[in-house]
Amino acid sequence: MSDASAVFYRSLAPSMPEAVNAKGMYIYDQDGKQYLDMSGGAAVSCVGHAHPHVVQALCAQVETMGFAHTAFFTNAPQERLAAHIAGKFAEAGAKVYFTSGGSEANETAFKLAWQYWRSKGQPNKKKIISRVHSYHGNTLATLSASGNLPRRRVMGDVLFDWPRIDPCYAYRDQKEGEPAEAYGLRAANRLEDMIAREGAETIAAFIAEPVVGASLGVVPPAPGYFKRIREICDTHDILLIADEIMCGTGRTGTFFAHEQDGFLPDIVTLAKGIAGGYQPLAATLARAKVHQTFTQTGKAFAHGHTYVGHASACAAGLAVMEVIEDEDLLSNVRHTGDYLQEHLTAAFGGRAYVGDIRGRGLFRGIEFVADKKTKAPFADEMNITPALKRAAMQHGLICYPGGGSARDNLGSHILLAPPFIAEPAHIDALIGKLDAMFADVFDG
Ligand SMILES: Cc1ncc(COP(=O)(O)O)c(C=O)c1O
Repeated sequence: MSDASAVFYRSLAPSMPEAVNAKGMYIYDQDGKQYLDMSGGAAVSCVGHAHPHVVQALCAQVETMGFAHTAFFTNAPQERLAAHIAGKFAEAGAKVYFTSGGSEANETAFKLAWQYWRSKGQPNKKKIISRVHSYHGNTLATLSASGNLPRRRVMGDVLFDWPRIDPCYAYRDQKEGEPAEAYGLRAANRLEDMIAREGAETIAAFIAEPVVGASLGVVPPAPGYFKRIREICDTHDILLIADEIMCGTGRTGTFFAHEQDGFLPDIVTLAKGIAGGYQPLAATLARAKVHQTFTQTGKAFAHGHTYVGHASACAAGLAVMEVIEDEDLLSNVRHTGDYLQEHLTAAFGGRAYVGDIRGRGLFRGIEFVADKKTKAPFADEMNITPALKRAAMQHGLICYPGGGSARDNLGSHILLAPPFIAEPAHIDALIGKLDAMFADVFDG
């Protein structure tokens, strides 16, 4: 990588290797160095790299018909993939709208919510309530609904000023002796307080990740939290959007993450794992009642991008879904996920700098603290998060370090989201690499 590069990089002085090929659980750089991919990038590569079935299906689709604009035609891959995803949803009649990335999927969800209320004669229901420590995308609306301060700060007052409630985050928020269910209820009732403050007549939707990914380092909800959230949304006529862009499509051991919390969202967004990184693809699933509003009023959903329902992207998505089913990968997600949790806990649970190890399925987080007892995070100046990323790359490991889990920029965690094909031997290798990394960062 040199100054001569014409790429407008994400950072000013990037010193990244070049990825030249990838297979299964590994990515290789220009020098042939092998990286064990334990986060699928950012929870993307769910069936591993260069899976022959996906490669074959994608090549076949590109050869047959790569793209035909969906303003003029439908296509078989989008029809079949939509049927597959809608078929996984617990209520019949759901419809699926395909876009190219997570931000577009959530932007689509917000526009759906606004147009839904407008067609019901309630055009003032506009605000989207979200949670502190959340990330829902980088468009202006989705960043407005994100509580991730470092990512929002730079856009300042350009963003919409929408309300946010505290997340359900037992490690830092549950009181000593408070039963998990009571905590779940207390955390959920914050939504009701916020609705009372803002006025239900001004609120279109509440958005939350069933299992929080990058912003908190994989945090599942307390028992009963989402059931209570569902009740509150029903009482006050507010749509409930489940952002499953990271935690959906099987990552937590069930196709939809919300299945494990026994509630039905009105809108679900999926991306990342939906096409396993083989193509950019995302989906916004609308429950039947949301879609029917458009058919009943005779006014179509006013939205669209050039690549909506892109045939090749949907063909890749369909092939990824077939691999997950044919290879029974969700049972591997559950079993190997348990193995991962057990081995992380056994190896690192007792370390002074490890505060919490948590998650579901093959979606796990480790939160680091300067003081295990007080849960105080490491000081900002220590730059723990970038140090973890550097050390991981040095040791040939792809994981996803993040910050801000305590407050604003403070707090550090790593997110693990390996491909669903991970085996115990890969987990054992991960433990060895983490051990070496932690020695560099915390003992060095
Ligand atoms: C939960 C969640 N929602 C939305 C997004 C935005 O997705 P994208 O980066 O594909 O636009 C992300 C990306 O990390 C995410 O983790």
